Amino acid sequence: MCGIVGYIGKRNSQSVLLNGLKKLEYRGYDSAGVAVHTAQGLHICKSKGRISELESRLQDAPLVGSAGIGHTRWATHGKPSDVNSHPHTDIETKISVVHNGIIENHLSLKEELEALGCTFVSETDTEVISHLIARYYEGDLVQAVRRAVARLRGAYAIAVLSEHEPDKLIAVRWASPLIIGVGEDEHFIGSDIPAILEYTRDVYILNDGEMAVLTRDGAELMTLEGNFIARQPFRIEWDLAMAEKDGYEHFMLKEIHEQPRAFRDTLRGRIDSGRQAVVLPELEASGFDPRQVRRIHLVACGTAYHAALVGKAAIERLTRIPVEAEVASEYRYRSPLADEHTLVVAVSQSGETADTLAAMKEARTLGARVIAITNVVGSSAAREADAVLFTMAGPEIAVASTKAYTSQLIALYLLAIYLADRLGTMDPSDSAELLAMLEKLPLQAGETLAGAGLLQELAANIAGCEHLFFIGRGLDYAAALEASLKLKEMSYIHSEAYPAGELKHGSLALIEDGTPVVAVALQDSLLEKTIGNIKEVKARGAYVIGIAPEGDTELAKAADRVVYVPRSHALLSPALAAIPLQLLAYYAALARGNDVDKPRNLAKSVTVE
Ligand code: M6R
Repeated sequence: MCGIVGYIGKRNSQSVLLNGLKKLEYRGYDSAGVAVHTAQGLHICKSKGRISELESRLQDAPLVGSAGIGHTRWATHGKPSDVNSHPHTDIETKISVVHNGIIENHLSLKEELEALGCTFVSETDTEVISHLIARYYEGDLVQAVRRAVARLRGAYAIAVLSEHEPDKLIAVRWASPLIIGVGEDEHFIGSDIPAILEYTRDVYILNDGEMAVLTRDGAELMTLEGNFIARQPFRIEWDLAMAEKDGYEHFMLKEIHEQPRAFRDTLRGRIDSGRQAVVLPELEASGFDPRQVRRIHLVACGTAYHAALVGKAAIERLTRIPVEAEVASEYRYRSPLADEHTLVVAVSQSGETADTLAAMKEARTLGARVIAITNVVGSSAAREADAVLFTMAGPEIAVASTKAYTSQLIALYLLAIYLADRLGTMDPSDSAELLAMLEKLPLQAGETLAGAGLLQELAANIAGCEHLFFIGRGLDYAAALEASLKLKEMSYIHSEAYPAGELKHGSLALIEDGTPVVAVALQDSLLEKTIGNIKEVKARGAYVIGIAPEGDTELAKAADRVVYVPRSHALLSPALAAIPLQLLAYYAALARGNDVDKPRNLAKSVTVE
C-alpha cells in the first residue's frame, strides 16, 4: 500500500508534493514525508500521523527546490513513527527513496549490507533500497538504480531523488502501480492519477519491469534492461471535480449519493432496447465465445467478493453454468480446477489489489480466459485481462466501497444476462422483464436515498452497541455479508452476517435482550422462512430492524423497525438493499466520532498480499 509522488520542473516542489499526497491519502495515512533538493542539498521532512502533521512541520521550515519526492504510508514493516516514515536514505543522505510495496528479501539484503558497514536506522523493508543504490553508485544514478532493483524480490513502485544528480528523478515499477505525468517544463510521478491531475492530463502508465527517468524537460521510459520504450501518453478524460467532495461532508456520503448516476453510467450503451439484449462489445472484440465456457470462477476481495457472491447467484441462475465465487487471496493456494474452458472474472474497484492480480495470474497460467470488472482505466487488472468490463462509478475516494460495489453488481448482472442470451438459456420474456427492471434501478436507487433520515435515526440507536447481527437468506445473505463488513470497517462495532436459518445452529446463544439484528428480507419466495427466523431472535430479546420491499406488511409485524426499499426483481435486490445499509454504517461511524473516509488500520488500495 502507500502512495508515492514525485515532481521535477518549474514550480516549487513542496506544494506539488503535498497536494499530491493529500489526493493519495486513501492509500495509507499513518505517516508521511518528503525529500526536496534545496540549494543546500537534499533535505527530508517526515512525520508520524496524517499529512496535516507533515504540512505543519513544513510550514515552520519550508523546503524550497524544484525537485522532490513524497510518500504517505500504510505500515507493513515497522510501526508508524517518524523514523519509519519515508523517504529513506543512505548513510550520507545523498540518495532518497520512497516505496510502495513489500521487499520480500529485505532481511537477507540487510544482513549483507550490514556486513559491509551499513547502519540501518528504521525497521522498514524500504531502507535496503537506498543503501543498495548508494552501494552501486559509481557516477551513474540510472545504472545504480537498475543494479539495486535487480536485487529486490517482491513488489515495488519506487521514486528516487539523489544529491549526486539532482536534475533527475527516477521511477521504477514492479507489481505496484505507478504513473508518470507529462507537463510543460515539468514532470510528475504518482501512484494514482488524482495525485497529478491538477497539473496535467497526459500520463504514461508504467508496466512491470519498466523505469522512467524524468528531468524538467523530458521523460524517458525504458525497460530495466535499458531498452528505450516509445509510448504515447494516455489522455485522462475525467475531471478532478469528480474526485472532490462536492459539498458533502464526506466522500463516503457523496459516493453513496452518486449511485443513481453510477448505475446509469454503468448501464449506458450496454442494453440494446430494440433487441432486448445486452451488448458488451468489449467481450466481442476479445473473441470471447461463451459456448466454450464450462465453468466460471469469480475472484475478488472484501466488498468486491460480496459482489462476486451476487454475481455467482445471477450467472448460475440464468446460465446454469457452475460458478464459484472465491476470496482472491485463497485462489492460487488451493490448486483451482481451471483450464481453457474456465472463465475467470476478477472483480476489483481499483484493479490494483495484489491478491486479485495474483489470482488472475494463476488463472492465466492454467489456461483460463480472464475478464476484469474494474473501475479504473489503465489499472493493472485492466491490463492483465483478456477483456475488461469497466464499471463507470467514477473515482471512489472513501476507503469504504459503496458506489463501486453496486456498480460491480450492475456489471455482473449485465454479464449474466449477456451469457444467458448468447447461450440461449433464458426465456426471451424473462430476459425482457429483467432488463426492464435493470433499467429502472437508477431511478429506484434515487428513491432509496430519500430514506436517509430514518437510517440516521436507526444508526443512533445502534451506535452504542457492542455486537450486531445481520441475517438474510439467499441473495439477502450476500447483502447481509456486505452490510456487516461495511458496519465493521466504518463504526468498529463487531458484527456478523448469518444465513437466517443458520443462527439456530449455535450463534443464537449470543442473542440477548436488546441485541440488534438487521434482517434483510427482499426475496419474496423466502420471506416466510426469514420471518420465522426473525421470530426466533425476537423471542430471545433481539431488537430487529427489517429491510423489506415497499408494500410489505408481513415483515413489519415481526420487526421492531422497517426500512423499505423499492420493489425490484429478486436477483437485483442486493443493489438496492446496499444503499440503506451503507447509510446505516455511515451514520453509525459518524455517531461514534470515527474518521469516516479513513477508518483506522485500513487503506483504499491493498497492493500487498
Ligand atoms: O479495489 P478492490 O475492489 O480490489 O478492493 C477490494 C477490497 O479491498 C475492498 O473492497 C475493501 O473490502 C473495501 N474497503 C470495503 O469497503
